[in-house]
Amino acid sequence: MNSHSKPVLSATDYDLPGQDMVYHGKVRDLYKIDDLLILVATDRISAFDHILPRSIPFKGQVLNQLAAYFLRATADDVPNWLIATPDPNVAIGRYCDPIRIEMVIRGYLTGHAWRTYKSGQRVLCGVSMPEGMRENDPFPTPIITPSTKAVEGHDEDISKEEILKQGIVTSAQWDILETYTRKLFDRGTSMAREQGLILVDTKYEFGTWQDEIMVMDEIHTPDSSRYFHLEGFQQRQDKGESQVQLSKEFVREWLMDHGFQGKDGQEMPIMPEFFVDQISERYIQLYEQVTGQSFEPDLSTNPGERIDQAIRRYLQDQSRPST
Ligand SMILES: Nc1ncnc2c1ncn2[C@@H]1O[C@H](COP(=O)(O)OP(=O)(O)O)[C@@H](O)[C@H]1O
Ligand SMILES: [Mg+2]
Repeated sequence: MNSHSKPVLSATDYDLPGQDMVYHGKVRDLYKIDDLLILVATDRISAFDHILPRSIPFKGQVLNQLAAYFLRATADDVPNWLIATPDPNVAIGRYCDPIRIEMVIRGYLTGHAWRTYKSGQRVLCGVSMPEGMRENDPFPTPIITPSTKAVEGHDEDISKEEILKQGIVTSAQWDILETYTRKLFDRGTSMAREQGLILVDTKYEFGTWQDEIMVMDEIHTPDSSRYFHLEGFQQRQDKGESQVQLSKEFVREWLMDHGFQGKDGQEMPIMPEFFVDQISERYIQLYEQVTGQSFEPDLSTNPGERIDQAIRRYLQDQSRPST
């Protein structure tokens, strides 16, 4: 089956009863109704903060269901925004007032942290990194390296000190964010381990809802996290080999190989059919591996219509007085 025959959901443009705000993110479409958020995961894919020209079949379903899986599994440890998933592509929950930082947590020296380390720096976001580490080595304890949530353009590294100095959060709030971040990462790490995976690093977004801090957005998905295969990890490290990553990293690598790193003036290469299919398969594989469950795709030919109806049905059921 090639991706021409698979339905993709590239965008939505709904007119839901009572909606008072619509925002099209890079990957998801947001509809706000009072303090309710309806988050529709589309099949768009982004890399280097750019939306790529082609959508990936089933990616929205995979992301939405993975995020919901982890949010439900961790709800007893850390309060989160999710209330219901009335459709494979839809999550509904509390609309939070976003806290303008991303809490990045890293168990291993990979990606941006490794590039910083390799350049000779030993401090990242005010956190020091031990001498003598190699790429992908574990940190003695996971480090938290926050970034700013830029309204436009790239997110930037920021230290805890700077966050407090700028008054983005109070020191009491920071303590909660740090506690929640470590709790979620610990749970994600043990859940991954049970499935033969290493949760390498990830980022969390938090917001407040009725004065309570809660985790919002997606957690532990391949768009927000990196995973390695656990089996053979140490042997590969010992031999200085690269690790097997389950994440969007291979898409970034393909783009870089084709001259695109998201910099101004660079032209975005168009991904060929087979590569789009490969990305789709990788997302599905990751879903199955991380959850240990098989992925049941919703193959309806008009996902946009199906989703609209599912949301409306949900809203109607909620407004009906309970007996
Ligand atoms: N519960 C929530 N309340 C308010 N905003 C949320 C909530 N959950 C997620 N968001 C926001 O929804 C958007 C998700 O769509 P995404 O495609 O990731 O957008 P972006 O391009 O801004 O990252 C993000 O901006 C995220 O901060
Ligand atoms: Mg996002």
